[in-house]
Amino acid sequence: MKNSDARRKAAESIKVIGSITVYRRSTFFYLGVCCLKYMEKRVFLKQTFALGLAGLVPGEAISEWIRRYDSVSPAVLAADEEFWAGIRGGYKLKPAYINLENGYYAIMPEGTLEKYIQHVRDVNYQGSYYMRTVQADNKKMVIARLAELGGCMPEEMALTRNTTESLDTVINGIAWKAGDEAIMAQQDYGSIVNQFKLMEKRFGIVAKVLSVPNHPGSDEEIVDMYRQAITPRTRLMLVSHMVNITGQILPIRKISDMAHALNVEVAVDGAHTFGHLYFKIPDLGCDYYAASLHKWLSVPLGAGILYVKQGKAPGLWSLMADWNMKDDITHLAHTGTHPVATDLTIIDAIDFHMKLGPERKEARLRYLQTYWTSRARKLKNVVINTPAEPARSCGIANVGIAGMKPADMARTLLEKHRVWTVAIDGQGVQGCRITPNIYTTTAELDDFVKALGELSA
Ligand SMILES: Cc1ncc(COP(=O)(O)O)c(C=O)c1O
Repeated sequence: MKNSDARRKAAESIKVIGSITVYRRSTFFYLGVCCLKYMEKRVFLKQTFALGLAGLVPGEAISEWIRRYDSVSPAVLAADEEFWAGIRGGYKLKPAYINLENGYYAIMPEGTLEKYIQHVRDVNYQGSYYMRTVQADNKKMVIARLAELGGCMPEEMALTRNTTESLDTVINGIAWKAGDEAIMAQQDYGSIVNQFKLMEKRFGIVAKVLSVPNHPGSDEEIVDMYRQAITPRTRLMLVSHMVNITGQILPIRKISDMAHALNVEVAVDGAHTFGHLYFKIPDLGCDYYAASLHKWLSVPLGAGILYVKQGKAPGLWSLMADWNMKDDITHLAHTGTHPVATDLTIIDAIDFHMKLGPERKEARLRYLQTYWTSRARKLKNVVINTPAEPARSCGIANVGIAGMKPADMARTLLEKHRVWTVAIDGQGVQGCRITPNIYTTTAELDDFVKALGELSA
């Protein structure tokens, strides 16, 4: 069959069943063929042949590979390099560097990327017909899947474009009065902290900025620190679930319970935890939770969530007015026309995430982090800015070298050792943030630790 015929057939095979667009197997096969044309053919095929999965398209091959390990526990699987080499086979990785900066944007596996491309084609093929017929229902379905993953009700979940939009919706949405107070930490994300500064200028509120210790002695130490900042004027507290520059996990449940006892609401910045840690949002006890899906869930760029605890949505002003102006969460999530193919791909990314298993992913990410930090902690002049207790960190950690500027460290790591990281110099932290992903190998981490040894010597 000629390419054009195949393409026409693929397009025609798109069906709308119920309210979600699905594709016939022939479409999938066509996609697989296209995908194999441009992806790093040799790398993937070498791996799939080695796995005995040749003939399957990337997404199917990886699913089949995961199925073979169904009965293996997260703890055992975390250290099984062969399994993770198979997972790595589903990614197209740039060979120029070892990517240890997945915290900004975690690239999609080829299977998800192919689905995304297909959604772009599908929406483009149908044009406004798609937008006027199934768009809204499909979005509801995406929200339902996200709510299921987050363990909350769909009525508590909104689809946004990123963490920034979600948190700024909350911060802007409060009817601030002059003299009201908000609490945050200097280790929180800079532009979100600045959103409070904007509220200071605009409404005369007071933004109190604390500093979270890099190595807390106990949960109580952190809870106490937030408690002491509360006054009768405090209305909202911003807390990072995982501090983005160090990877430290904060005891959100304890902080929320303490804050609620003092009538203070809690907004959680979960940019680095949704799709990374295995948890249910309501268990955090917070009022608002925000995350970017293009980080740890490996969704295409430009998707996020906002969780608003039931009953809280009417109390916030909308950032952008919605068509219906209802009191429910929809009034907080109007975006205007935006790339809907990204929304559709969320379902594919969740499918992959669930196949792999959220607990297994968390276990592997923590394994990778402790793999390199436990070696690096022994090196002279190397400073790990992340707590060693397993419950206080997962995939992200930060490492500095005494007497070396973080920017110089990051540059040397890239230029001399082909390791891509990001320098953090401020907010109480000097070092490079290291974020492996599920395709990272321990051999790559060995190279990285070796580079640290050379740099610090
Ligand atoms: C803790 C934290 N909050 C918020 C953001 C902003 O995320 P986005 O740019 O996806 O809105 C980031 C980005 O890295 C982050 O690390």
